[in-house]
Amino acid sequence: MKYFNLHDGKKIPAIGLGTWQSEPKLLQKATRFAIDTGYRHLDCAAIYQNEPTIGDALHDALGANKLSRDQLWITSKLWNSFHRPENVLPACKATLKDLRLDYLDLYLMHWPVAFAPHVGLGQPSTADDFLSLDQAPIIDTWKAMEQLVSSGLVRYIGVSNFSQTKLEKLLPQVKIHPVVNQVENHPFLSQSELVTYCKQNKILITAYSPLGSGGRPAEFKNSNEPSLLANETIDLIASAHNSSPAQVLLAWQIQRGVAVIPKSTNETRIVENLAALNVQLTAPEVAQINQLDRDYRYVNGAFWEGQGSPYTVANIFD
Ligand code: A2P
Repeated sequence: MKYFNLHDGKKIPAIGLGTWQSEPKLLQKATRFAIDTGYRHLDCAAIYQNEPTIGDALHDALGANKLSRDQLWITSKLWNSFHRPENVLPACKATLKDLRLDYLDLYLMHWPVAFAPHVGLGQPSTADDFLSLDQAPIIDTWKAMEQLVSSGLVRYIGVSNFSQTKLEKLLPQVKIHPVVNQVENHPFLSQSELVTYCKQNKILITAYSPLGSGGRPAEFKNSNEPSLLANETIDLIASAHNSSPAQVLLAWQIQRGVAVIPKSTNETRIVENLAALNVQLTAPEVAQINQLDRDYRYVNGAFWEGQGSPYTVANIFD
């Protein structure tokens, strides 16, 4: 396994298993298989509504006595409905119970978007279901997340889907530094400025949808989405390395210092994705991939633009 250093020298595995949209029936076996294969990092979230299944796999893997808890890196995320400070601790405890863990390595604020607590893990649909960032300021949520670190429930905290503008506002106010910003990232959305800014500020970028998230349900997809896995440049580079397009996409990120969390419940692809660590791209290949950037978001946040919502794609991503 390759590791990246956090700002304090603690190591985080560069590749983790993504679990968004994992088929519930396959997830427990896939998680256990991934751990047995050498994955040491699992990316979870309350809203994926599958943490109990992952918890069973973790219990199984840790119970087998081959692995100790401190050899695994487990990330989860605070859902939008629990941004009010008094809701943060109960949300974290629910995740810990579901994952059957005493602590998380990393807890992320999932979106810079807040819902009213009654929405729970459902979908907001009316103006009353949303809280604006004036009603639920990010810094108030962050302070409650800092308490989780102080109480030992969480080792590190971070954010997800945060723009540079939102980080610039947050950083001067924090007592505990955000160690990760998890964002959509791949060659069609390379966000080099955000990557550079985060590096300068000792925040590790973790890329979600590193393969283009092709398994999303149709209602989350735009028509005519470009395919990363079928891209000609990626394919040619993959052939030159006798590797797969997915491995090239993952190797490109790791070489630029970005962690990746490819989702798969297929054993062959779980193995294939981890083996991306063995692919070393040349500088001209990296330059060719860099040229593919087209500012294209697969997960564009438009689902928070409902009637009465204070959120727009523009004000989420700035
Ligand atoms: P599956 O779970 O059947 O392997 P992302 O991580 O960008 O969200 O992409 C996840 C999607 O890509 C899922 O549909 C997953 O399907 C598929 N996938 C995962 N690994 C690979 C791979 N190595 N090659 C092709 N498709 C993959």
